[in-house]
Amino acid sequence: MDKKHMFEIRDRDGLARLGVLRIGNRQVDTPLLMPVINPNISMIKASDMKEMGCEMVITNAYILKKSGIEKDVHEVLGFDGPVMTDSGTFQSHIYGDIEFSNEEMLSFQQKIRSDVNTIVDEFVEPDDSYEVAERKTMETISRAKSAYNNCKTLALPVQGGLYSDLRKRCAKAYYNYEALFPIGGVVPLMESQRYEELIDVVLTCKHYLNPSMPVHLFGCGHPMLFAIASLFGCDLFDSAAYSKFAAEDRFMFENGTMPLSAISEDICSCPVCSKHGIEEIKGMEKTERVKLIAEHNLRTSFQEIRRVRNAIKNGRIWELAEIRARGNPALLYGFNAIKKYKKLLEHYEPLSRKSSLGTGAESFYRPMVTRAVKKSKDCYISGFYHQSFVPCPAELRYTYPFGQAIMPYTKRAKAMENLRKREPGDEETIRAIARMQFGADAERALLNGELTFVRSRKNNRIRNVMCDGEHILSLRAEDGYFTLKLGGGRKLLDLPYPRMRVVVNRDSEEPAREGKNVFAKFVVDADDKTIIGNEVVVVNENDELLAIGRALMVREEMLAFKRGIAIKIR
Ligand code: GUN
Ligand code: ZN
Repeated sequence: MDKKHMFEIRDRDGLARLGVLRIGNRQVDTPLLMPVINPNISMIKASDMKEMGCEMVITNAYILKKSGIEKDVHEVLGFDGPVMTDSGTFQSHIYGDIEFSNEEMLSFQQKIRSDVNTIVDEFVEPDDSYEVAERKTMETISRAKSAYNNCKTLALPVQGGLYSDLRKRCAKAYYNYEALFPIGGVVPLMESQRYEELIDVVLTCKHYLNPSMPVHLFGCGHPMLFAIASLFGCDLFDSAAYSKFAAEDRFMFENGTMPLSAISEDICSCPVCSKHGIEEIKGMEKTERVKLIAEHNLRTSFQEIRRVRNAIKNGRIWELAEIRARGNPALLYGFNAIKKYKKLLEHYEPLSRKSSLGTGAESFYRPMVTRAVKKSKDCYISGFYHQSFVPCPAELRYTYPFGQAIMPYTKRAKAMENLRKREPGDEETIRAIARMQFGADAERALLNGELTFVRSRKNNRIRNVMCDGEHILSLRAEDGYFTLKLGGGRKLLDLPYPRMRVVVNRDSEEPAREGKNVFAKFVVDADDKTIIGNEVVVVNENDELLAIGRALMVREEMLAFKRGIAIKIR
């Protein structure tokens, strides 16, 4: 039925993305936080949440069905934005068996006109045996399959517990479905601060899920986790925590939780805390106090979502996530999980960013660093090191991330002294950068003749690279990498197909020649080594050059997305 390419990426930083999610004729921005509204005990009205920044809410269809409420859920909640419903699986995790089947819950969700319907999945507990976890996961996959063709927008939870092969099997089974994909069964991990396993589960799911679909981290409602979960590719969150924490007089902040009793100063400037002040809140009777703390918790959560979005936009989500990890030793330790996912993280790592900053020891495991260290080993031509935050060949000292790193003055002075002993030559430098940016095969294909250089009049640095008199590359000041010229693109076509290429179908041929951006839906193939932000040669299916562009997606994404730009044409 009527599934209309619901998700589009507008901006990104590695696995983190700024997206637009279309549900029916409404749309919401991601990363997105959906407050959980319990229809029976609602501390804050859905209509009041809008003003705090709420675009979409989630409620529980199982509770509605048990209470015999069978009206339009928007009317029941007093909310005219999109409403997602959960199915009762979480109740089965807490109370044991539930009363209604998958079919009953799905038809009920349709009856109450919920915008996103969740199947009744089987909650895999972290300590389930492999046999139990496997049976639950296979049952979940089979329920997804039986629901898929009869329902509008579905949420299909990925189960599998702590068994990565089961998570993989579930995510892969969903690959061709257009739906929302919540990562399920993780609430017990968050409740007991098992963050290393949580990150492990998230990255395993992300590795195998269809990259063009939105991913929801089920039950993730603490603002201290939003930056980290977004960094690892989660687009949607839901929070029941804002009211559960409030009921226990606990204040949520972006770097942790504080009991009311531990707050003796006015440390928060949200509208609630500014208006009332902590002493006034302490003096209130329970119902009123809890309601205000719930509002503080919700406002703090939306504020953190806005910070996350802003950080993604500025290429700073790693900094924000690392700072959040520093708020809690368990969380910082959990960050260790990224060492196991180096390949995945490097695969989605952009060529460069506006800045390259680190926050501490854990920054050395960022894909920006691991990839640069690995690749730059091949670019070591002059045999000379320029000391940066990590050893860097002298040829790459203006190239991202080395050139953009902030170095202490004393280190910088030492590096300059080393350089005076031997500057790499122009050709050494150009070859090293080309190898770092495109790989050794492409460097040879590009720089296969007599090289001459045009220098900047301002700072005497190389600007343009000519090969046998033809302009093939320009060197950018911002990140120290090359912009490819048509002449350079032609040379790259000597490489075996589809290396360095993005292949588009006939519908995109004319627009690409005219300089219009290439949409993902027109891409038929691409180099699997394509790096986000890097130069690519756009060709038609006869391997004829159409244009030079900059990739905004990796190959799997270009092939999976039905919406959005894959290549920005120069
Ligand atoms: N809420 C929190 N975790 C889960 C889960 O695994 N499945 C469903 N359906 N809801 C949840
Ligand atoms: Zn506050």
